[in-house]
Amino acid sequence: MSDLYTRVLAAADHIRSLHAVAPTLGIILGSGLGNFATQVENATVIDYASIPGWPLSTVEGHSGKLVLGTIAGVSVAVMQGRVHAYEGYSMAEVTFPTRVLGLLGCSKLIVTNAAGGINTSYGEGTLVGISDHINLTGINAAVGPNEPRFGTQPNSGARFFDMTTAYSPRLRKLALQEAAALQIPLPEGVYLAVLGPSYETPAEIRAFRTLGADLVGMSTVHEVIIARHMGIEVLGISLVTNMAAGVLDRVIHHEEVMEIGKRVEAQFTQLLKALIPKVASA
Ligand code: HPA
Repeated sequence: MSDLYTRVLAAADHIRSLHAVAPTLGIILGSGLGNFATQVENATVIDYASIPGWPLSTVEGHSGKLVLGTIAGVSVAVMQGRVHAYEGYSMAEVTFPTRVLGLLGCSKLIVTNAAGGINTSYGEGTLVGISDHINLTGINAAVGPNEPRFGTQPNSGARFFDMTTAYSPRLRKLALQEAAALQIPLPEGVYLAVLGPSYETPAEIRAFRTLGADLVGMSTVHEVIIARHMGIEVLGISLVTNMAAGVLDRVIHHEEVMEIGKRVEAQFTQLLKALIPKVASA
């Protein structure tokens, strides 16, 4: 099999053959948030299954389409669905789409996800700006031989790379400003990633709170690590779909996790649509 760079390039070339305008902003939609893709104008919709090398999700609620076009005049590439490490995918597969977005020309990336709320000031349906992450998945997506050609932005593609400002301070500031202007509450929090697919035990959640985590989830950190390797600037937003295990006196159902997405869809759409032109021109 050809090397990873060649496979990512082939996927990017295929996408370019279907949609000539290069996206500058990538958006990854998490569980229950996929409907946002309908906001894309002049859309080219590409089934993941038709893109060579692109991994296919096995989870309900991740429909699997790449939507290219414009939102508020910004050329975007919106991922409706993603794959997770708990599905058995390798790190190269989980982050393949992020690398494709980078080669297509995205210099900025908005990542969204569904998360459990560890911070008891949150409630179901709270949107949270991700300030930082703790990767407890047991693996780092940048393991393996370094490929400097993935460094698509200035001063990137190095073997060792900074994560101090993984979640761009200036994009976070923009998000807080936009949320305030729209009167949408947007607290910030630290996202802790686990491998899954089981939800956590109450003892794990207590431990994670002690570690400084506000949110827990099973995605995002690998994509963010690879985005940073490529020099892509990242903004992260979590939707609290449930309070984490043991916070409330009840068990967690995946169906409820999906349901909450529908409930906050209008707010989420309003915030993201307002943010897109600001983020793109930052
Ligand atoms: N734990 C882990 N991942 C999640 C949760 C949770 O409680 N809710 C949504 N994704």
